[in-house]
Amino acid sequence: MTESTTAAVLAPARTTALEVHGLDAWYGEAQALRDVSIQIHEGEVATLVGRNGAGKTTLLRSIMGLHRKVRGTVTFRGRDVSHQGPHRRARAGLGWVPDDRGIYSSLSVLENLTMSPVVDRKAAWSLDRIFEHFPVLHTRRNFPGSKLSGGEQQMLAMARPLRMGSSLLLLDEPSEGLAPVIVQQIEGIIHEIRQSGTSVLLVEQNVHFASAVADRHYLLAQGRIVESLDAAEFRSRTGELLEHLGM
Ligand SMILES: Nc1ncnc2c1ncn2[C@@H]1O[C@H](COP(=O)(O)OP(=O)(O)OP(=O)(O)O)[C@@H](O)[C@H]1O
Ligand SMILES: [Mg+2]
Repeated sequence: MTESTTAAVLAPARTTALEVHGLDAWYGEAQALRDVSIQIHEGEVATLVGRNGAGKTTLLRSIMGLHRKVRGTVTFRGRDVSHQGPHRRARAGLGWVPDDRGIYSSLSVLENLTMSPVVDRKAAWSLDRIFEHFPVLHTRRNFPGSKLSGGEQQMLAMARPLRMGSSLLLLDEPSEGLAPVIVQQIEGIIHEIRQSGTSVLLVEQNVHFASAVADRHYLLAQGRIVESLDAAEFRSRTGELLEHLGM
């Protein structure tokens, strides 16, 4: 047995949670994504980094099935979901955390948390576990969504798919507009989510935050993936990337 086959035998099998292949997306005649291919392994945190207008939100929405003017394939946990709508993709385990956080303002924190169906009983976080990791949501459990601060809304938006038992979270700029102390809390929660085996695709313009939480980074520019870097490569090139991305 050669060294490389030994390594292949001994290496733990890494299953692919999400594979996007050759994805194009349009708004009318304007093309927003061009031939995008990315892969996220089970339990991995990957980021999507790029300037304003690069196509980050469009890519997350396309993965979730919310943007329909697309071509290419989205495979989730071995199944081609390209032709499924957002509800079926959510039932399959894709968890959507939009940039506007999507909190129902007239419903309480508890109602916001429990209104979506549990999609995987084994993976779903119990309310006790949610409240242990997000103590502020326990304190505010009977408050309407409209009375929450930006940070509290973000916590609630992230807790919701965990409660559902989603196996991959799509997070669109969770740190945006939040105070550094809250960003730090969110960083800690992403580490815990990763430890629980849930995969994450995180859109992030804060390069230091991205660097602290992720295993892999995809750089998106003008709708194309221009680089795919592992954590060490990304860290060693942070300065250059900040300049290149104009961030
Ligand atoms: N509803 C829309 N109609 C037309 N064009 C759109 C629409 N939404 C986005 N676009 C365009 O598609 C491109 C990608 O936008 P997208 O929102 O995906 O970028 P982004 O990387 O998420 O940017 P940001 O950092 O500002 O959130 C941009 O050129 C944008 O102007
Ligand atoms: Mg966006």
